[in-house]
Amino acid sequence: MLQGKDLLSIHDLSVDEVDEILELASELKVMQKTGMEHHILEGKTLGMIFEKSSTRTRVSFETGMYQLGGQALFLSNRDLQLGRGEPIKDTARVLSRYLDGIMIRTYGHDRVVELAKYADIPVINALTDLLHPCQVLTDLLTIREYKGKNLKGLKMAYVGDGNNMTNSYMYGGAKAGMEFVAATPEDYKPDAEVTKNAIEDAKATGASIKLVTDPAEAVKDADIVVTDTWASMGQESEHEERKKIFAPYQVNKELLSHADKRVIVMHCLPAYRGEEITEDVFEHFAPVIFDEAENRLHTQKAIMALLMGDID
Ligand code: CP
Ligand code: NVA
Repeated sequence: MLQGKDLLSIHDLSVDEVDEILELASELKVMQKTGMEHHILEGKTLGMIFEKSSTRTRVSFETGMYQLGGQALFLSNRDLQLGRGEPIKDTARVLSRYLDGIMIRTYGHDRVVELAKYADIPVINALTDLLHPCQVLTDLLTIREYKGKNLKGLKMAYVGDGNNMTNSYMYGGAKAGMEFVAATPEDYKPDAEVTKNAIEDAKATGASIKLVTDPAEAVKDADIVVTDTWASMGQESEHEERKKIFAPYQVNKELLSHADKRVIVMHCLPAYRGEEITEDVFEHFAPVIFDEAENRLHTQKAIMALLMGDID
C-alpha cells in the first residue's frame, strides 16, 4: 500500500507497487481519454518545489492535479525563502501544515531525503542529480504499451552519460525483470551504489544489469534503446567538453542496425539533436517519444492518487 508514503526512488518500491502504479496509470489514461470523472484528489493541494528548470514535469504534475480534482502550487526557489537559505527541514514542517503532498526537483538527492524526513505528508522526487523515478516509471508504462505488459526478458539498452536517468533505469529495469545494459564512457558510469543495489534487486526478478563501454555491444538485439542529454542540468559549463567525449555514443541509424528489427527508441526530453540522437532517428521515433512525454501525466496522476488519495 502506497498511501501516505514518499516516492523518492524506484528502489524503495516493491515489484507489486511498481505494478500497481502502472496499472492505475493505464486506467487513469483511459478515464481521461473517455471523459470519465476521476476526482480522486478533490480538495487536496500539491506543492511543487522547483530548484531546476522544467517543461514536462511542471505542466504534467500541475495539470494532473487539476484533472484529479485538486490543485497545485508552483513554488520556485527564486520566490521561496528556501532560496534565501531557510533550512529544508523547516520548509518541510511548515509546508506539511498547509499541503497534502510535496513534489520537489532539486540538485542533491540528500535534499529530497531531508525534506521527506521532516515532512509528514508524501514527498515525490521529481528529479535529483541522482535519480528521476517519475520519468522511468513513465517509461515502463510506455514500454508496456508498445511491447506488451510483461516486460520480463526485454532488452533495454541505454547509451550515453551515466546520469540520473541511467541510475533510475537500472532500478526500474531490475524491478521489471528486464535485461538492462548501459554503454557509457569508462569515466561516466552510473552511480556505483545504485548499480550495486540494482544488481541486488535484479536477483529477485530475474533481471540483469550490465555496464559496458561499447555502444554496439549494448544495443545488440535490444528491444528498447534509450538515451539522454550528455550534459544534465548543472553541468552546462562542461557541455563543449562532453560533446567530444560522448561523440561515439550517439544514437544514430548505424548504431540501431545492431538492435532488434522492432526496436523502439525513447528519450525523456529535452533532446539535443546532432548530439545524443540524430534528427532522423528522433523524428522516426517521435510517436513513441511523445507518447512517453504524454505518459508523464498519467503515471504521475497514479502516483499522486496512490500516495495522497484514499485508494486501498
Ligand atoms: N523529462 C523531463 O523531466 O522533462 P522536464 O525537465 O521538462 O520536466
Ligand atoms: N539528465 C537530465 C534529465 C532531464 C529530464 C538532467 O538531469 O538534466
